[in-house]
Amino acid sequence: MQGPLRFSRVLAALLLTASGWAAGVSAQTTAAPTAAPAAAAAPSGGIKSANIFEVKPDASADPNYANQTNAERAKVQPGNNAPIWRQVGTGVTGYSSLPKSEAPEAGNLIQPFVQYPGSRLTNAGEAWRQVRNNWLIPYGGSLLLIVIGAIALFYFGKGTIKMHGTNTGHKIERFTPFERSAHWSNAIAFCILAISGIVMAFGKFFLLPVMGLTLFGWLTYILKTAHNFAGPLFAVSLVIVFFTFLRDNMPSRGDIGWLLKGGGLLSGKEVPSHRFNAGEKLVFWGGVFFLGIVVVASGLVLDKLVPGLLYVRDTMQIAHMIHAVATVLMMAMFIGHIYIGTIGMEGAYQGMKTGYVDETWAKEHHEYWYDDVKAGKIPAQRSEPVPPSQTAQA
Ligand code: HEM
Repeated sequence: MQGPLRFSRVLAALLLTASGWAAGVSAQTTAAPTAAPAAAAAPSGGIKSANIFEVKPDASADPNYANQTNAERAKVQPGNNAPIWRQVGTGVTGYSSLPKSEAPEAGNLIQPFVQYPGSRLTNAGEAWRQVRNNWLIPYGGSLLLIVIGAIALFYFGKGTIKMHGTNTGHKIERFTPFERSAHWSNAIAFCILAISGIVMAFGKFFLLPVMGLTLFGWLTYILKTAHNFAGPLFAVSLVIVFFTFLRDNMPSRGDIGWLLKGGGLLSGKEVPSHRFNAGEKLVFWGGVFFLGIVVVASGLVLDKLVPGLLYVRDTMQIAHMIHAVATVLMMAMFIGHIYIGTIGMEGAYQGMKTGYVDETWAKEHHEYWYDDVKAGKIPAQRSEPVPPSQTAQA
């Protein structure tokens, strides 16, 4: 067993010595250029070595230096390909045999110069990177932290908005099963999108240092896929939510007064409202309608689901920047909504969970709506009531 092994080691040593000797010889040959005629160095393709004494060190003093073509530059500074790379960097499109309709960016390595809002005038890829890293990430992240901080201050300072009276035991149906399922499908999709979006955008600052590269890479990959699938679900459920709650979110008399008094949040005396107060209407029109359209439209572009659109790099860059701004604003709005809908107001979550609220809750938070129900203008039970036998089983 030892024999063949030793033989192969000896052979390897001999080969190494021989190649080292050969390298030494060739090094000596190149070190003495006058001794070896130029014809002896056979051209081998790629970048050729150059004699340092033949390169003009003061070539840059030539007034035409910056305008030289690559061929001209090669004469004075062999191996210096700056002109060709400068051309590539300005977005020059070369020849490609691929059809323009299917591969419009083929032959174009680096995009042309552009100035996106907040970036310098530079290649579009770099301009997009500057907008993302210098604006969207720091300011978007700060806005979310400020909103969470303000809500935390309010919660620890003022606490939950409690009910003043006691429950009567008489229930009013606030949300039908259809309304609740529309709302919760939308809310679940929103949570998946918000969590995955936050991890994709900001995760490297707070998760990567804790999880390490491999785990964070996998987590982001999984969440990115979840984001792409939850997006269309959110889009569809948002449209349903919009039409379901549209009627009761129409502006009405008293909305301006409600807003001017901040709903009575600080005075502790809640301003009367119809089924939805002006704050809820603001979230509806600003968050569900306006931001909803922008977020969904830009998201569908990023998901490449809009037919007939050319999905080239600048389309994706612009869609991404719009999507990032609108989603951060939407998250800021819905963080407030989720707070009021859970720990911020006693009884609100119960209403969306079970569909029913106590009369006292209705009177204290939506007095005009309560009056309309009591006056018989709005039925206290709008959906088909569940038979008592089924309620007992549940
Ligand atoms: C975990 C997330 C969420 C929770 C806990 C939550 C909770 C609630 C609660 C408790 C209500 C009833 C408020 C009331 O009785 O006046 C409500 C209403 C509503 N929610 Fe949500 N929600 C969430 C997410 C969302 C999302 C993502 C959207 C839409 C993008 C949304 C849109 C609405 C709408 C349209 C209403 C009806 C009131 C209005 O028009 O403002 N919710 N939500």
